[in-house]
Amino acid sequence: MKINGVPYRTIWLNDDGWSITVIDQTKLPHRFETKELKSAEDCAEAIRTMTVRGAPLIGATAAYGFAMALRDDASDEALEAACKMLGETRPTAINLRWALNEMASAVRNRPREERVAAAYKRAAVLCDEDVETCRRIGENGLKLIEQAAATKEKGETVNILTHCNAGWIACVDWGTALAPIYMAHDKGIPVHVWVDETRPRNQGASLTAFELGAHGVPHTIIADNAGGHLMQAGEVDLCIVGTDRVTANGDVANKIGTYLKALAAKDNGVPFHVALPYSTIDWTMKKGVGMIPIEERSPDELLKMTGRLPDGSLATVEIAAPGSPAANPGFDVTPARLVSGFITERGLCHASEAGLLTLYPEHKPK
Ligand code: MRU
Repeated sequence: MKINGVPYRTIWLNDDGWSITVIDQTKLPHRFETKELKSAEDCAEAIRTMTVRGAPLIGATAAYGFAMALRDDASDEALEAACKMLGETRPTAINLRWALNEMASAVRNRPREERVAAAYKRAAVLCDEDVETCRRIGENGLKLIEQAAATKEKGETVNILTHCNAGWIACVDWGTALAPIYMAHDKGIPVHVWVDETRPRNQGASLTAFELGAHGVPHTIIADNAGGHLMQAGEVDLCIVGTDRVTANGDVANKIGTYLKALAAKDNGVPFHVALPYSTIDWTMKKGVGMIPIEERSPDELLKMTGRLPDGSLATVEIAAPGSPAANPGFDVTPARLVSGFITERGLCHASEAGLLTLYPEHKPK
């Protein structure tokens, strides 16, 4: 996607052939800055601090982190240690573990002297595949927006609600939930996006709004609590969100607050779709509710806020009663029964084990 007319990916290999550059998401939307990552520890730190975030992008960053770790030591022990160190940075998004497994499989059976080159090659392919996967998710999800447009008067706007950021900034390019929206907009279908601000870290207000704005997609930021009211008022035609992990039965882990949106959507007969790449499906976990590890993040994310002062500098201020504790679960799990369907790179399916298996028959229990 483009920023000020310049096409970008969120992550790229530098000319030295071994370090990478990422967009520093902690500075958006106020500053567009990039950051070089030169070691596995740099990559782990970037994931931990949410310099990079979003399930597919943290997988891609971990993949390069793994390759950098092997530059220092390509032994079996170092390989396992790198997987452990990078894999422990964030617990909920399964793409992280998936990417590390892919990397380990690409090098494990090779002689040590071939491992670094093989790792970099696999990381690059993994990034390219993510772009193509998201593009296909966009094409498949576009059909749902076209269907919604077909139910309206010609030229009438399709209103879509999304939560958190599942756009190109959360992936390598295109995004998951936002890819169909970009394609609809580019095709001339009038779309408007209700962007949940997504407290406490405001990925909606700061990242989703930023990238939709940069692409010229009409959107409006809303308080997280406004979605139910807008659905009741008939102002939402469909919801599309991303996900950090879908279990074999179709339960969906996503940014905290997603579950409440799905409940409101069900109560108001608004279709609630989840967009995901195959790397987000955890086939080893039978169900998600009560099973998917939910990241507990720092209370400071709730108690403080960072923004831009009139002089352009960034400042962090306290916003809560001094001394009050805060709890900050980062994700919730939406049961499959509240999900209207999945949008994947292979097509659309019912949110259930049977539905997923129609698209991924290779995972049928033997
Ligand atoms: O904590 P984050 O910002 O990494 O959480 C991201 C989300 O919840 C996204 O919506 C999800 O990862 C889907 S990314 C395409």
